[in-house]
Amino acid sequence: MRKIFLITGGAGFIGSYLAVNFKKHFPRSSVITIDNLVRKGSSHNVLLLKKYKIKFIKGDVKNKAVFSRLPKVNILIDCAADSRVLAGYKSSVRKLVGSNFLGIINSLDYAARVKADFIFLSTSRVYPFDKINCLNYTRRKSRFYLACRRKGVSLWGIREDFPLQGIHSFYGATKLASEYFIKEYAYAYNLRTVINRCSIISGPGQFGHSEQGIVSYWLASFLFKKPLKYIGWGGEGLQVRDALHIADLFNLVLKQIKHIEKIKGKIYNVGGGQKNSFSLKELSHRCQKITANKIKVDKIKKTVLLTLSGI
Ligand SMILES: NC(=O)c1ccc[n+]([C@@H]2O[C@H](COP(=O)([O-])OP(=O)(O)OC[C@H]3O[C@@H](n4cnc5c(N)ncnc54)[C@H](O)[C@@H]3O)[C@@H](O)[C@H]2O)c1
Repeated sequence: MRKIFLITGGAGFIGSYLAVNFKKHFPRSSVITIDNLVRKGSSHNVLLLKKYKIKFIKGDVKNKAVFSRLPKVNILIDCAADSRVLAGYKSSVRKLVGSNFLGIINSLDYAARVKADFIFLSTSRVYPFDKINCLNYTRRKSRFYLACRRKGVSLWGIREDFPLQGIHSFYGATKLASEYFIKEYAYAYNLRTVINRCSIISGPGQFGHSEQGIVSYWLASFLFKKPLKYIGWGGEGLQVRDALHIADLFNLVLKQIKHIEKIKGKIYNVGGGQKNSFSLKELSHRCQKITANKIKVDKIKKTVLLTLSGI
């Protein structure tokens, strides 16, 4: 396959991994990356991009001019975002909307102009947390289990048909708004698009912090003996997440590119599934075992979002 890929947010954890592996997988293809390097750690990934002769453009996707001098690409993978869960609460919503929504519009305008296929990395945070928090859960040993069946909820967790009305966080709302516009552009310009609603993606090259990249953040905290907190849900660390390795995400994206004519317009939940799920308490046990370090984990009963909104 000889293609030209464009990856926005291409110096980030996911973007840089995809870029390098596209280059390894399709040596005759070109990969172009755009990133404003706002995320701490992303500048390290630029060295990696250069090593693999991947074109790196330092630029901001909310600036339309960034797209004006690009060659015609075949596939655009949108990985540029401010993905901090609490973005917009103590920082500017306008800035968040610029990166996460206007940036997508610019990407879509460009994709429509050059007729590029469009793959969007969305998030499980498009599902409204106020509704998810009201589902029934039972406590067994070191984690909570979902104990109800209703529309959009199965034995495996939250499905793609879970009702979307509710409160999402500012971050989740920018992603959901982007999803709606992707559907409109797909219709208006006959674009082939795929939306991946990712849960936790983990693996090498991730510079995790308290608001994103939980697995690397947790492991690094154990390694360097930094204190952690269980926040919300009674502060016991029983809330469950599932993680997908970045190599599996790459394989998924490869398949999507190959079959895009068949799957265009689809939305997928992308995660590690129950087999690769863990509660924070279980993650602590695992990290303790790996690092042989024991650290203090504070218990904060209320979630940060409830505390911020004064509930
Ligand atoms: N990693 C995960 O667990 C996860 C889970 C769900 C969804 N996602 C989504 O996947 C995408 C990639 O996530 P990631 O983990 O690689 O995050 P990341 O923060 O490592 O990468 C995002 C990159 O985008 C860049 N960026 C931010 N705003 C920009 C702008 N306005 N212009 C240009 N570049 C900009 C950042 O500098 C960063 O390098 C994001 O859209 C994120 O919302 C990631």
